[in-house]
Amino acid sequence: MDARAVIVASANGREALAEGMAVLRRGGTALDAVEACARIVEADPRDESVGLGGLPNLLGVVELDASIMDGTTLRAGAVGALQGFLHPITVARAVMDRLPHVLLVGAGAARFARESGAEPAELLTDAARRYWEDRLRALGESASDIGSRGELATLVRPVREHGTVNFIARDAKGGLASAVTTSGWALKYPGRLGDSPVIGAGNYADARAGAATCTGFGESALRCGTARIAVDRMARGISPRAAARSAVADASAIALKPFHVLALGADGAHAAASNVAGRSYAVIEDGMAEAVLVPRDHLHTAGPDGSPLSGELWDRT
Ligand code: GLY
Repeated sequence: MDARAVIVASANGREALAEGMAVLRRGGTALDAVEACARIVEADPRDESVGLGGLPNLLGVVELDASIMDGTTLRAGAVGALQGFLHPITVARAVMDRLPHVLLVGAGAARFARESGAEPAELLTDAARRYWEDRLRALGESASDIGSRGELATLVRPVREHGTVNFIARDAKGGLASAVTTSGWALKYPGRLGDSPVIGAGNYADARAGAATCTGFGESALRCGTARIAVDRMARGISPRAAARSAVADASAIALKPFHVLALGADGAHAAASNVAGRSYAVIEDGMAEAVLVPRDHLHTAGPDGSPLSGELWDRT
C-alpha cells in the first residue's frame, strides 16, 4: 500500500519534523520517525517542558514521562518519573521492544534504562534551577531546606500551563505511530505521573482508525481516557477534527484547564483542537521542505467570571 507520508506535532515539535520526514524518506517506519522527532526535542534545553531543561519537581529533580505506540501492532512502551536519562522516548521504545511490559516507573525505569545502554544526563539546567528556586521563594520556601520539609502536598501549585511534545506519523505503508514526551507539571509532587506515559490517556494509536495525543492538563486526560476515546471515535467514522474537538470538550467539562488534542486519521487527515484561543500545531507532508504551523480549532470555554481560558488564567479554577 502506498500512503501519503505525514507527521503532525504539537507546535513545539515543529523544528524536529524535517528530520522525522527524512527518516520516512529513507524507508524508516512511522515508529522510527516519531522516536527520532521526540529525541530532538528531548535534547533541546530551550524547551522547558521536555527532557533536558525540563522544569523539576518540588525537590528540584527532573522526572520525565514518555510513551510510544505502534498503531500497526498496538504494541506500546512507556516510562514514568524517570530520572537521569536524556532520552526517555528511547527507553520507552526499549520497554516495548525488549520487555513483556508496557510501563516502567521510577527506580525500575532507571535501572532498565541503564541496562538498555540509555544515555545518562544531568537534566536540570541552570535556567530550570533558577525557575525552581524562584518559585520556592515565592512560596516562602528555600531550595536548600525543601528536602527536609515534612510535608510537600500543600506546596503543589498549578503554576503555569503544561508543555509536553506530541508526534504522530503515518508512513508510506500506512503504518501509524505516536510519541509523547514531557517533564510534566512544573514543581509537581515527586512521583506524579501525568497522562503522557499512560497509553489510552495521553497517547493512543491504531492504524485501522487513527491516533491521538494530548498536551495540557494531564489529570483531565487520565480521568477521561482521552486519547483512546478520540481514536475510538475515529474508528466509528468520526473525522479527526470532530474527534479532537469532542475530546477537548469532554476534558473541559470536568476541569476548566488548558487542554489540547492532536489527531491523525488512518487516511492521513489531521486536525487539532484546544480550549485556549490562538493555538497551532505543526505538519509536514512528503514533498514539503519544512513543517508549517496550522491553527487548532478553538473550543470556547469560560472561567467563573466568563473570561476566556488561557494559560495565564491557570490558577483561577
Ligand atoms: N500533559 C502532560 C502532563 O500533564 O504531564
